[in-house]
Amino acid sequence: MEKTFLMVKPDGVQRNLIGEIVNRFERKGFKLVGAKLMVISENLAKNHYAEHKERPFFGELVEFITSGPVFAMVWEGHDVIPTAREMMGKTNPLEAAPGTIRGDFGVTVGKNVIHGSDSSESAEREIALFFNESETTSYEKQD
Ligand code: CMP
Repeated sequence: MEKTFLMVKPDGVQRNLIGEIVNRFERKGFKLVGAKLMVISENLAKNHYAEHKERPFFGELVEFITSGPVFAMVWEGHDVIPTAREMMGKTNPLEAAPGTIRGDFGVTVGKNVIHGSDSSESAEREIALFFNESETTSYEKQD
């Protein structure tokens, strides 16, 4: 079964949006198979966002994502990677449709509430960066 990595960013945690966000994915029909509240180290942040290291906003991005607790999650379900991206909305909240997470709660492109893997390769990489195998479970046998 497909898995993705989703993370409520420091702005979302601070604004008490964890429950709202978890609720949306649960109601959609996906299964939460791993979760933890954590403060990301600078090393982990740089590794997670390595593909953006040449971008002018990289420093700001690392500073923001390490600025407070995040809620890191692994979700499982049919086509969960693209479906979660649709539910999150476009990266820039200005362009994100109402009804999407960023459309409903996001304000700026930096503080855009949630991160989600954009491909199966990213999902595999990001899950492995944030979670040990013993920290995730599976509901596959209960479907
Ligand atoms: P995310 O999906 O976590 O992946 C990379 C992040 O970079 C993205 O969400 C945005 O929050 C952030 N980002 C993209 N463009 C900018 C920008 N111009 N300034 C600051 N952050 C940005």
